[in-house]
Amino acid sequence: MIDADEVAKLCYKCFNQLPKRGKPEAGREWTLLAAVVKVHPGRSSDAAEMEVVSMGTGTKCIGQAAMSPRGDVLNDSHAEVIARRGCVRYLMEELHKAVGGRGSALFRPSDRRGRWKLQPGVSFVFFTSHTPCGDASIIPVTDSLQPGQAQPCHPVTPVDSRGETDAGSSLKRKAEEPNEGRNSKLPHLEEQETKDGGSENPDDRNSHVSGPKAPHEAEPPSLQTDSAEERPQIPDVLRTGAKCVPGGPADPRLSGPGYHSAGLLRVKPGRGEPTMSLSCSDKLCRWGVLGFQGALLSHYLEEALYFSAVVVGKCPYSARAMRRAVIDRCSHVSELPSGFSLCSPVLLQSSLEFPFSQNQARLQHRPGQGRVSPCGAAISWCNVTEQPLDVTANGFKHGVTKKALNTPAARSRLCKLELFHSFLTLVKTTDPSSLPDPLRTAELKTYWDYKQASQPYQQAWQQLCCQVFPLWPRTDRSLLLFQ
Ligand SMILES: *[C@@H]1O[C@H](CO)[C@@H](O)[C@H](O)[C@H]1NC(C)=O
Ligand SMILES: *[C@@H]1O[C@H](CO)[C@@H](O)[C@H](O)[C@H]1NC(C)=O
Ligand SMILES: [Zn+2]
Repeated sequence: MIDADEVAKLCYKCFNQLPKRGKPEAGREWTLLAAVVKVHPGRSSDAAEMEVVSMGTGTKCIGQAAMSPRGDVLNDSHAEVIARRGCVRYLMEELHKAVGGRGSALFRPSDRRGRWKLQPGVSFVFFTSHTPCGDASIIPVTDSLQPGQAQPCHPVTPVDSRGETDAGSSLKRKAEEPNEGRNSKLPHLEEQETKDGGSENPDDRNSHVSGPKAPHEAEPPSLQTDSAEERPQIPDVLRTGAKCVPGGPADPRLSGPGYHSAGLLRVKPGRGEPTMSLSCSDKLCRWGVLGFQGALLSHYLEEALYFSAVVVGKCPYSARAMRRAVIDRCSHVSELPSGFSLCSPVLLQSSLEFPFSQNQARLQHRPGQGRVSPCGAAISWCNVTEQPLDVTANGFKHGVTKKALNTPAARSRLCKLELFHSFLTLVKTTDPSSLPDPLRTAELKTYWDYKQASQPYQQAWQQLCCQVFPLWPRTDRSLLLFQ
């Protein structure tokens, strides 16, 4: 049995042990944390042991602005996505040990040539410090533990230097929102979105108001003074900044609980515009059917890898919304190829809050510290021998100069291209007689080729798309032809 608080404690401790680089500045910046935790049978007692194998932080997502057909940019730096990619690095290294005959604590050979399966009793738990953005964040206000708090999916809003423009754009967004006056006391996640560009501290707020303010501009939910009891319980939902995918139904945007449609695919916001990256709710749901190992590693595995539990830290949370978003939407998928199955994770919430959450940053904020804002960097740490730590900003290695942006030194170890190259190294070092079949026979060159050759994975993806997510945007093939 998994203890949600034990998982959260372990992940926060692991985060504390990381070096300072890329971490938020206490009281001013906040971030999101996610991790993959390996659970394995204890040596002596019957208690299971847990170990963080990959951890990620990050809040940002970049969009289609600069096309990169080279696979060298990290588009989606939400913590959940960083944690999964780091986990792929970890799995790759364990497979390396296994195929090299060095023995892996994780994998043992299966009966099929070139395929591996998990050691007995090993499982994986996914931890996230916050409710994933997108569908799971559409939370009825009465379900929420802490009304008035932020939702996780924040767009990159230009901060500093562009105060006036921000005020303008936030007015525009306000104007598009019907009935905002009536609901001004309720926690509106879209408001959280616009507030990123402005101060969240009432003291700061007054000190640098220069642009015109709409007379009806909604009050921010004031956390310190309002208690949940005093606030009238008008039915409403917490909102997500993630917009519905193009080509399908849109949110009705009615006041109160009818603002969003539940259950839909959503794309992450980025610099004010939607991106092509799906929300973390959608990605978690997908991992529940296809596994979290991805198409490339599926070549080497007997079965897809699934999370046995998903643990969320203390934050606004609804068990119902979470179940709907992460499990129920896919629970009727049928005709999955062998190696794929629907094993729903147990959903749990911890009572322990991440010390660098948005809520904590607000509480610890002191006047004069500058506005509370999301940390721009994303940290990845995973348990591998070479370069376990990978800190990025804007999709590239943190701190690289503009000049070096197109050089290998600027690449994150987590970008598609680097993961692909690690995979090719794995293939090269595998003895040809113990290569999985598709990798022995076919003429494969590009990233696209290797992914397509992972046939059962592609079939499972087809089923998921046809049956559940026909609107899931497909990445343009021309962007996946790198080698
Ligand atoms: C990722 O970013 C690249 C370049 O910045 C862009 O070409 C691509 O469309 C983006 N992909 C997604 C899924 O948003
Ligand atoms: C990394 O994994 C090894 C086993 O492969 C383990 O002995 C070690 O304790 C792990 N390191 C951390 C920091 O968890
Ligand atoms: Zn997210």
